[in-house]
Amino acid sequence: MKALIYRETGEPKSVLKLEEIPPPPLDPGEALVRVLLSPINASDLHMVRGRYGYQPELPASPGIEAVGIVEAVGPGVQGPSVGTRVVFVDTWNTWREQIMCPADKLVPVPDGLDDPVAATSYINPLTAWALTRSSHNLKEGNWLLQTAAASSVGKFVLQLAQQYRFKTINVIRRREQETIIRNLGGNEVISTDDQDLRARLQELTAGNGIERAIDCVAGELGAEIARNLAPGGTMLVYGALSSHRQTDPSKFIMPLFAPRLIYSTATVRGWWLPRWVLSQPLAEVRAATSNLLTMLSNGTLTPPAIVRYSLKDFQEAIRLADGEAGQQKVLLDFSERAA
Ligand SMILES: NC(=O)c1ccc[n+]([C@@H]2O[C@H](COP(=O)([O-])OP(=O)(O)OC[C@H]3O[C@@H](n4cnc5c(N)ncnc54)[C@H](OP(=O)(O)O)[C@@H]3O)[C@@H](O)[C@H]2O)c1
Repeated sequence: MKALIYRETGEPKSVLKLEEIPPPPLDPGEALVRVLLSPINASDLHMVRGRYGYQPELPASPGIEAVGIVEAVGPGVQGPSVGTRVVFVDTWNTWREQIMCPADKLVPVPDGLDDPVAATSYINPLTAWALTRSSHNLKEGNWLLQTAAASSVGKFVLQLAQQYRFKTINVIRRREQETIIRNLGGNEVISTDDQDLRARLQELTAGNGIERAIDCVAGELGAEIARNLAPGGTMLVYGALSSHRQTDPSKFIMPLFAPRLIYSTATVRGWWLPRWVLSQPLAEVRAATSNLLTMLSNGTLTPPAIVRYSLKDFQEAIRLADGEAGQQKVLLDFSERAA
């Protein structure tokens, strides 16, 4: 079978190769899944460059989400049955034509949901869901501040806010994005290109500070949000877009204002989906993923735009996905056997 493999960490364009490797053996309790589509996430490229939170033993394939079809099941597997379309939870190495994984890490895809949407239903939708509904446990009427609110995760957060009736303060860096936020029902928008963030936060919270925040920018912006947390407030830092494409270690620093943090006794905590997944019972991760698939299928959630690349054009796909953080998801198409 074909697989995108790297044998050493480095620049993806140099170290990633399309290779022919033997198909994996079918063990008890496992399923063999033929991969149809797998997206390129920023985390995949971080992993290939050797700077992700999880580094596999090499050689390895990148990839942490995909849609595929069950081709065979090992002894003892109760389901899903052969022919079922599935997505994976807690599975690495998805950039290959076939994957062997425990059958209980597969979640069936509802009929009628397009393959490209199913292929991107895990990382960003589940991150948005887990941050808001699990880690922050937001209830109707609660307020949440989010940075990079027009990002893919941010848009899912906004749509979940409509569904679960929590309210949002949305920080963006370009006023043009306000329309996107308002169209998705965002309650408040602060654009740092033409507004004083601190003054506006004071105003919006009547000087009380922010109780709950999620931040994927970090750096100076994340630190400023932390400085405006309410007493006992919590900010979950799940990304560091301010360090995107940086190599200078000083660019990875988030300069927290210590006095305010001390007196507010606020919490600034890192958040990472793979660790959240491991902290939850597998049945709950599967249930949340299944619920998100249903919401994508019935139109409660709208997925981002998608662009699809044949496997033979993987270098071009990576070049596009590795550009400035963008809004369209780049998918690798493993279904074309002759690619
Ligand atoms: N911890 C986890 O488990 C986890 C899971 C999923 C995603 N993530 C992380 O979450 C982040 C968002 O992912 P995504 O796929 O939703 O991103 P995305 O769709 O590519 O969107 C990026 C957004 O961030 C904005 N942005 C980029 N750099 C910025 C900066 N320095 N300051 C302020 N805004 C900035 C962009 O605004 P412009 O349009 O103005 O450029 C754009 O709206 C990424 O860092 C990703 O790695 C983490």
